[in-house]
Amino acid sequence: MGSRIVSSGSYLPARCLTNADLEKVVDTSDEWIVRRTGIRTRYHLAEGEEPAVMGIEAGKRALAQSDASPESVDLLIAATNFPDMICPGSAPFIAAGLGFDQTPFFDLKAGCSGFVYGLAVADGLISSGMYKRVLLIGHEALSRVTDWSDRKTCVLFGDGAGAVLLEPAPAGTGVLGSALYGDNSKAFLLHLPAGGTKSPASHSTVDERGHYLRMEGAGVFRSAVPMMERATRGALVAASLTLADVDWLIPHQANLRIIDSLIKRLKFDRERVVVNLDRVANTSTASIPIALDEALRQGRIVAGSVVVLTAFGAGATYGAVVIRT
Ligand code: UT7
Repeated sequence: MGSRIVSSGSYLPARCLTNADLEKVVDTSDEWIVRRTGIRTRYHLAEGEEPAVMGIEAGKRALAQSDASPESVDLLIAATNFPDMICPGSAPFIAAGLGFDQTPFFDLKAGCSGFVYGLAVADGLISSGMYKRVLLIGHEALSRVTDWSDRKTCVLFGDGAGAVLLEPAPAGTGVLGSALYGDNSKAFLLHLPAGGTKSPASHSTVDERGHYLRMEGAGVFRSAVPMMERATRGALVAASLTLADVDWLIPHQANLRIIDSLIKRLKFDRERVVVNLDRVANTSTASIPIALDEALRQGRIVAGSVVVLTAFGAGATYGAVVIRT
């Protein structure tokens, strides 16, 4: 037995920020942002808006699409790097908003690869017979950990959530193969230094701006392309398929130049790559499920398509999953 995605949903907050809006905040330009990243707009939570609302709305849409009641879900996995609260995370708040009663839940933290990791974990749990219906949500409120004085990072990120509902399916029909990797030597390429148990919140961590995301952008860029290439090829081997069998590629939406380099290495057709980062920017764990949901709802990806989802992120983690929709 294996598993398959039976429905999906996504949610973006209402507040849209253009590059011109960011020109008023830091020393940047629309021209620089578009040329170096491909990003034109991003969506951010309004001040005081609850982050969990994004995961709740995405989850509701996924459940509604397959007429699944909250009671019928056996497990909720919330993939997120910046939970609503460090303890107890995001999952309990999302579970409450979805009307779950005794359904188990947990947060999964694996950098921007969190959704891909979560899909492999959910597939493993369903395949083992431990759970039947698993709701997997990628949920991220990056605007809340963005350093608005750092032009190197603040232009890149958006908020949002995407969800998929997984159910048992005959092996070889839904999730066809996966490959997960880690490179702990790159743990500091992308990190948020303070607020954890290593460096608890204090006046000095606040003064040092330690509660904001820090990134060595060029280092991340250099690692991202070979990582996603290796993961894509690894997952295809696990699925006993080749690139020629793939209908669609959905890479983590971090930077258009990273995506273009990946496609070049893979020699994959640009027309069959889902890209929405121009509109939604980098939403970390939410990026792949939002792109997948949008492509499914637009009818670009149709039933029976073979799709590779591949990501890299803080940790460094990377991985890919091959699915048949
Ligand atoms: O989910 C994973 C998360 N992160 C990523 O995927 C990020 C991966 N990395 C990247 O996407 C790119 O490295 C960036 C978009 C972050 C930066 O692009 P880059 O081509 O690597 O630029 P750079 O960092 O080498 O900076 C080039 C110049 C610098 O100026 P000087 O020193 O040459 O005078 C920067 O200060 O561009 C400057 N710069 C900016 N200028 C205008 C950096 N950020 C900006 C900005 N606006 N927002």
